[in-house]
Amino acid sequence: MAAVTFVETTKMFGDVAALDRLSLDIADGEFLVLVGPSGCGKSTALRIIAGLETATSGALLIDGDDVTDVEPQDRDLAMVFQSYALYPHKTVRQNIEFPLKSRKVPAEQRRAEAEVAATLLGLGELLERRPGQLSGGQRQRVALARALVRKPAVFLMDEPLSNLDAKTRVQTRAELSDLHATLGATFIYVTHDQVEAMTMGTRIAVMSDGRLQQVGTPDEVYDRPENLFVAGFIGSPPMNIVTATVTGGADGAGPVQLRIGTGGFELPAEIAAVVAESGLDEVAVGIRPEYLRLGEGPITATVRTVESLGHERHLICELAGTDPNPEDVQPGALVIIRQSAEDPAPQMSETVHLVAEARYLHLFDPGTGARLA
Ligand SMILES: Nc1ncnc2c1ncn2[C@@H]1O[C@H](COP(=O)(O)OP(=O)(O)O)[C@@H](O)[C@H]1O
Ligand SMILES: [Mg+2]
Repeated sequence: MAAVTFVETTKMFGDVAALDRLSLDIADGEFLVLVGPSGCGKSTALRIIAGLETATSGALLIDGDDVTDVEPQDRDLAMVFQSYALYPHKTVRQNIEFPLKSRKVPAEQRRAEAEVAATLLGLGELLERRPGQLSGGQRQRVALARALVRKPAVFLMDEPLSNLDAKTRVQTRAELSDLHATLGATFIYVTHDQVEAMTMGTRIAVMSDGRLQQVGTPDEVYDRPENLFVAGFIGSPPMNIVTATVTGGADGAGPVQLRIGTGGFELPAEIAAVVAESGLDEVAVGIRPEYLRLGEGPITATVRTVESLGHERHLICELAGTDPNPEDVQPGALVIIRQSAEDPAPQMSETVHLVAEARYLHLFDPGTGARLA
């Protein structure tokens, strides 16, 4: 059993809060991905679990016990790094056996266990090679096999795929998910790559500036981002976020409407109530590129770029701002539309109209970034 819990965990490096009151429950057997841009505190969080760093305040619990004073080697976990950290002069077999040798496991048992791990990771044929004779993907698998033979309750992985080429990365991603299913151990995986996070995590924890922004299943985080940071970070191409002015509402001036560029939207009653209650004159409106389409809609735009990816097409369009006071409407805001390759392609510089269904809109407070609806 190995559940990991951060309790208001803070780690200061001088004046920098690498982790700022992180509270997070990671269940036994879960595949949790910590994701966020470089410098947001992911490695620090992982190193605190491993015991390589000590929290400045707050606690770290493993299975409910505070492990602050437990040495790294006495924690039942194994860490896999971006740099594989293999011994260059040892063979694959010797590298994989190494943790068992340090534990004084008898030679025969070592050999057998290394072979089981190697087979599981498709390294059976490579046992007598040295790391220099392996591809990046194979080296990373050796590092994983070496972690595996220790049979830890928790695997900690810090960007283990980032040195691999795109194809190997996709393949290894799937292998890691399979490995997790096979072992049933707790996996805590750090990456800056939101695609990796979305595809591998049973839950993902999004971080920025040392703070946890949101934690949930990939679908929850994608469909209902709790703030502007998460909205902009998760999804590729990213969510379109534009400023809209609010009209009507509170003072009996008709139904609540949002105005984006040339277009006005009436909001469904539920959402209108939330907007009216917020008292904001402007809200940040988010819409995913796949929910924006060309048609008879209220927003006028000009096509600036047409990117064909083969299976789909991305249109980058500039919203026309016809408001007499352009300050209000972010003149020239760009949005991305994701089209099927089968849809008719517009011409560059063509004037188009955009349709966005109100139920796919995400509304945020532009000041605090918090989700409104
Ligand atoms: N040993 C250290 N000494 C000083 N600052 C550090 C140290 N480790 C990390 N930091 C700082 O803490 C912040 C978080 O770093 P890190 O956890 O490595 O982020 P990430 O892994 O998300 O890129 C960064 O601002 C980084 O510069
Ligand atoms: Mg890091």
